[in-house]
Amino acid sequence: MAGAFLITGGTPLNGTVGVAGSKNAALPMMASALLTDEPMVLDGVPRLTDVATLCRVLSELGVAAAWDGAGAGPSRALRLQVLDRSPVRARYALVRRMRASFCVLGPLLARRGRAVVSLPGGCRIGPRPVDLHLKGLAALGAELTLAHGYVIARAQRLRGATVDLSGPAGPTVTGTANVLSAAVLARGETLLRGAAREPEIVDLGRLLCRMGARIDGLGTDTVRVRGVDGLGGARHRIIPDRIEAATLALAAVATGGTATVTGVVPGHLAAVLDRLAAAGVELASGADWIRLSAPRPLRPCRITAAPYPGVPSDVQAQWTAVMALASGRSMVRDRVFPERFAHVPELVRLGARIGLAPGAAVVDGVARLSGARVTASDLRASAALVLAGLVARGRTCIEQAHWLDRGYEALDRKLARLGAVIERTEAALPALG
Ligand code: EPU
Repeated sequence: MAGAFLITGGTPLNGTVGVAGSKNAALPMMASALLTDEPMVLDGVPRLTDVATLCRVLSELGVAAAWDGAGAGPSRALRLQVLDRSPVRARYALVRRMRASFCVLGPLLARRGRAVVSLPGGCRIGPRPVDLHLKGLAALGAELTLAHGYVIARAQRLRGATVDLSGPAGPTVTGTANVLSAAVLARGETLLRGAAREPEIVDLGRLLCRMGARIDGLGTDTVRVRGVDGLGGARHRIIPDRIEAATLALAAVATGGTATVTGVVPGHLAAVLDRLAAAGVELASGADWIRLSAPRPLRPCRITAAPYPGVPSDVQAQWTAVMALASGRSMVRDRVFPERFAHVPELVRLGARIGLAPGAAVVDGVARLSGARVTASDLRASAALVLAGLVARGRTCIEQAHWLDRGYEALDRKLARLGAVIERTEAALPALG
């Protein structure tokens, strides 16, 4: 049984809420523990099912993972250390569950000379090929074959090369992570062109530098790596989760509340804050916080999800939910994943007026939504349904809420602290009528 979120909408969210460490920074960093035999300690790793899944993948690859210190939040750390360098296989059953498991390919190959990693297969947010990951590793001298659903990679020692990591939709984030974490141990210099500029990649690069890697140009689209013979352990604090921050901010905005989101890097949220201002939200920010005060109704606006520094595709669904109550027509495009609109039919069940065009949602604002039973289909689509449920009149039941645990630490508790009427049930719900 997957559990559900039960929300009674209509209460403005007010107060202060903090964010956890970034999921999408933590995952490739955890994979980079494979690059050294020394311990790696990552501070602020969020407690998520995706983190648990990757711990399992890593454990099957000979890495011991343990939480250091009790409690939650920034004081908690994840300690990872290679104990056995012989296993090289990441199984389909785990990689299918979480595609980011594919990030073990580069580090495994660079350190162990061999990797057998399942292809991730289909994804609910649209086609997600891994051709650029493979092209990049092949350019570094890896010998790659595909057999029985697995990538089988071999290399005596990788060698530096010039690699272009941008595809038709722009750079690839985990592809950049995979090739970067392989290039650090290659012989000679690697130039990554069309590299992802996301803060999560910059953070990964910083961790690798602490381990002894030599990397320049992080945060730009051309990253230069001078390979080294070996890497050591390191301790590193993960950046705050900008997607969680944006989701909490949008929750407050959707309900017409005033909230302060703390423990954030406001610069990482610049594109989101720009769009919030366009929608009429009053904003203030300090070194590590943002405050938002929402007007009623919001102004409609144009939002285009694009690679960093654009609005993240990972908040496109949440924006679509928020714009459902704006005073007119909004256009929400997704240039990164043009088919990532599974939330739309569920939002329509809650009373939203949204039409789909290629790569975009056309949202005609309505005066109110009404609570209903809906089904979550992926992580960010689920977050969009939570936001809509918080505003809808009456009760909303979001089934398959386990999706939220993949990427949000204690979302229900954080929203409840802001005044949301939300509870979680693990009990079986009555059959659908
Ligand atoms: N692409 C290719 N070839 C490749 C790889 C990607 O054509 O080899 C295309 C994709 O189809 C897509 C675009 O490039 O159109 C960008 O995909 P990217 O590879 O950047 O996505 P990803 O690395 O698989 C990460 C995040 C996603 C986030 C995207 C975009 C992690 C673990 N995942 O995925 O996060 O949506 O970047 O920013 O970092 C989420 O957290 O909910 C999530 C899905």
